[in-house]
Amino acid sequence: MNMKSPFYYLPILSLCILWLPAPTLDGFWDRKIASGPDFEYSAALSNVGRGDNEKWTPELLDQFLTSPMKFAPGTKMEFQGFLNPEDRKALIEHLKISRK
Ligand code: HEM
Repeated sequence: MNMKSPFYYLPILSLCILWLPAPTLDGFWDRKIASGPDFEYSAALSNVGRGDNEKWTPELLDQFLTSPMKFAPGTKMEFQGFLNPEDRKALIEHLKISRK
């Protein structure tokens, strides 16, 4: 393979590191909302974890995934969400593999 100098790849490597960082979802059901390791959560999502709703429930996650930015204005999870309820149901069912 014709490898170029490592500096050639620096821009794309930097982008990979800086681009779309997201928290791990491993075991997220069992920990307080917005409390995963090695990630600086937005104040918006951290505030969801205050009070009674400290952990994610399927109902809460359904609201978040419908529109992350409406559910927690200012969240770093800046994507439009899943409008189809069936998609969300399937996704939430799938995410149960993230239970410890
Ligand atoms: C199948 C799609 C997705 C699912 C199921 C999902 C799920 C989640 C969950 C459950 C959390 C909260 C984690 C916690 O409380 O520890 C979260 C946070 C986050 N996700 Fe996603 N996510 C999805 C797509 C994305 C995408 C496409 C991005 C990148 C644009 C993203 C970036 C983030 C970020 C940055 C946070 C932290 C938000 C904050 O601090 O405000 N996620 N995600």
